[in-house]
Amino acid sequence: MISKLVMATNNENKLREVREILKPLGIEVISQREAGADCEPEENGTTFAENAEIKARAVWETVNVPVIADDSGLCVDALDGRPGVFSARYAPKGEECEKLLEEMSGVPDSERTAFFECCIVLIDGGGVRFFSGSCYGKIGYQKKGANGFGYDPVFVPCEEGSSGMCFGDRTLAEMSSEEKNRISHRGRALKNFYKYLSGERSAE
Ligand code: IMP
Repeated sequence: MISKLVMATNNENKLREVREILKPLGIEVISQREAGADCEPEENGTTFAENAEIKARAVWETVNVPVIADDSGLCVDALDGRPGVFSARYAPKGEECEKLLEEMSGVPDSERTAFFECCIVLIDGGGVRFFSGSCYGKIGYQKKGANGFGYDPVFVPCEEGSSGMCFGDRTLAEMSSEEKNRISHRGRALKNFYKYLSGERSAE
C-alpha cells in the first residue's frame, strides 16, 4: 500500500482537502513544491481526465514518488455544462460566484441543477489510473458561508440523481470540512482511489 505520495497542484485548498481525507487512511500527501517540482503545465485537455493526467505527468517526470493530480470543475445544466473544464478560468479568482449568479439570474428553481466532477489520476511505476467522483446539487440565489473555496458558497448539494432532495438548504461553504469531504466529488473520487489501493476495486 502506498504510504506517501506527491500531489501535483499549486491549489492550497485542494491540497488541504486531499490531506484531510487521506491522512486518516495513513497516506501522507506532499505538495509538488515540497517535492521540488515547481511546474504549472498548460491544461489544454478537453476532459477532466486529460487535464489531471497532464498535471500528474509533469510532476512524475521530476520526482520518483507516486503522484496524484486532481482536475475538477462545476457543470451547470442551464449553461449546457459550463464552466466545466474551464471552471478555474471562468472569472477572475474570487469572482466566480458573482459571475455565475449573474448568468443564472432569471433561471427558475427547477432548472438550477448542477454537479461538481472530480477526476483523480495516479501515476507511478505501474502506469496511469483514473478515479472519478461527482456531487450533485443546485445553484443557489446568493453566496452563503465562509468555508471551502471556489463555487462552494453558491452550491447546495443534493442526493445523487435526485428529484431535488437536498441536504437541507446549506451550501458547501456552510458545511464543515468533514461534512463536505463526506459528500463532495473530491471525497468520492478519493474513496474510489483508496478502495483501489486496498484491493477492493479496480481503476476506471
Ligand atoms: P482545476 O482543477 O485546477 O482546473 O480547477 C478547478 C476549479 O473548479 C477550481 O479553481 C474551482 O473554481 C472549481 N472547483 C473545483 N473543486 C471545487 C470545490 O470543491 N469547491 C468549489 N469549487 C471547486
